[in-house]
Amino acid sequence: MAFVMTDMDRKTWRVGVAGLGTVGAGLLNFLAERPGFAPAGGRAVVTGVSARSRTRPRPFDISNLPWFDDPVALARSPDVDVFVELIGGSDGPAKAAVEAALSLGKPVVTANKALIAEHGAELAALAEAKGAPLLFEAAVMGGTPAVKMVREALVGDDIQSIAGILNGTCNYILTEMEAGGRSFADVLGEAQRLGYAEADPTMDVGGFDAAHKITILAALAFGCAPNFAAAEIEGIEQVDLLDIRMARDLGYRIKLVASAERSEDGVLVRVHPSLAPLDHPLAQAGGALNALFIEGRRIGRIFVQGPGAGAGPTAAAVAADIADVMTAPQRPVFQAPAGALEPFKAVDPSKMTGRAYLRFLVKDEPGVIAAVSETLAGAGVSIESFLQKPTEGAQGVPIVLTTHAVTESALTAAVERIAGLEAVLDRPRLLRIARI
Ligand code: HSE
Repeated sequence: MAFVMTDMDRKTWRVGVAGLGTVGAGLLNFLAERPGFAPAGGRAVVTGVSARSRTRPRPFDISNLPWFDDPVALARSPDVDVFVELIGGSDGPAKAAVEAALSLGKPVVTANKALIAEHGAELAALAEAKGAPLLFEAAVMGGTPAVKMVREALVGDDIQSIAGILNGTCNYILTEMEAGGRSFADVLGEAQRLGYAEADPTMDVGGFDAAHKITILAALAFGCAPNFAAAEIEGIEQVDLLDIRMARDLGYRIKLVASAERSEDGVLVRVHPSLAPLDHPLAQAGGALNALFIEGRRIGRIFVQGPGAGAGPTAAAVAADIADVMTAPQRPVFQAPAGALEPFKAVDPSKMTGRAYLRFLVKDEPGVIAAVSETLAGAGVSIESFLQKPTEGAQGVPIVLTTHAVTESALTAAVERIAGLEAVLDRPRLLRIARI
C-alpha cells in the first residue's frame, strides 16, 4: 500500500516570528510562496509576528497576522508552538524571548549567531532540561549547510581544524575593492544596500560576526562549550587597497579567514585578514560567498561553498530547521549534552607559528633594507620573498615581504622593533598567510 499523507493527517505547527528584518522578511516571503510549508509530516502556519515597528513600509502585508509589540509575549503566546527568533543581538529582547519560549518547552529556531556564540551553553542547558529543540542552522553560512554538517553528518569523525570565509559582507568588500580599485567605505555602503551587512556593520567589518560563527563551529566540532571571549579577532577596516595589490603581485588574495584548530594544548579560535594563494579555493570564493574547509582525522578534507547571507538563502536555512522541529529530533544542542560539554581550553596564540606578510613604508635611502632585514634576522624571522614598489610622487617607498614560518611572539617583537627604526615612516602592516 502506498504511503499517502493528506492535509487532514498533517499536524499544524503554529509559528511565531520575531524580527522582520532581512531574514524575517525572507521567511514570510518563503511561507507566502509555499503556503503551509509542509515537509516532514507537518505544516507550518504563521500565527504571530513581532518587530520593532509595526508600520514601517515592508514588501509584504502583515496586516492579517496577529501582531505582538513584545517578542516575549509572542514567545509565550498559547497560539505559538514554534518560536522563530530573527531579532539578532546577543542579549536584550532576543535572549529574553528565546528563554521565555524554551522555559515553556517550546522549540526555538534562530539565526542569531551572537546569541548562540555568547550564551549557547546556558541556553543548551535550558533547552535540554525542558526537552525543547534549539536549532540554529541559519546562524552560520546562511543558506549553506554548516551547523548540521558538523554536528550531525561529521559526528563520527574527529575534526582537527576548520577554516573558511564566514562573513559575506567582508568577502564582498574585499572582492569589490580588488576588482574595481574602490574604497572600503564605498563598497560597504553597497553591501548594506544589498542586505548582506548586519544592522551595525561594525559586527561584519570588525570580524565579530565571523568570530561568532567560528566559535559556534568550534564548539560543535570539538565537543566543547562555545567560548566567544577566547576568540582572537581582527577585522578588515585596516586592509588597504595597496595591500590587496601587493599581495596579488606576490601571488595571494586577501580574505577574512576564520579558523579553529584543536591540538593537545587546547583550542585556538581566530579571525584575521589573511593571504590565500590565488589558486586556492578560498581565494576563488568571491563576492558574498562563504566557503569552509573541514579537516577530520578519518574523513580527511571537506570543502563547502555557498551563499552565507541574504534573505532567500538564510530563510531557507530557517525553514529547514522548522522542518526538523516537525520531525522532533532530540539531539543535544551541541555535540554532547550541555552538562557533558568539555570546558573550553584556550591555546596561547603567541606560541602559534605561521607565515606572514609585512609591509613597511620606508625612506628611499641607502641602508634601509639592510636595517629592516637585520632587525628581522635578529628576531629570528626568516624572509621568504621580498618586493619593493616605488610609487611616483609618494613620500617614502613601500616594501613588502613574506616570512617563513615563525612564532607569533617573535613576529610581533620584530615588527615593533622595525616600527621604531628612524627610516620607517608609517605603522607597519602585518597580515597572516592562511594555514590552509
Ligand atoms: N552580515 C552577515 C554576513 C550575514 O555578511 O555574512 C549573515 O550572517
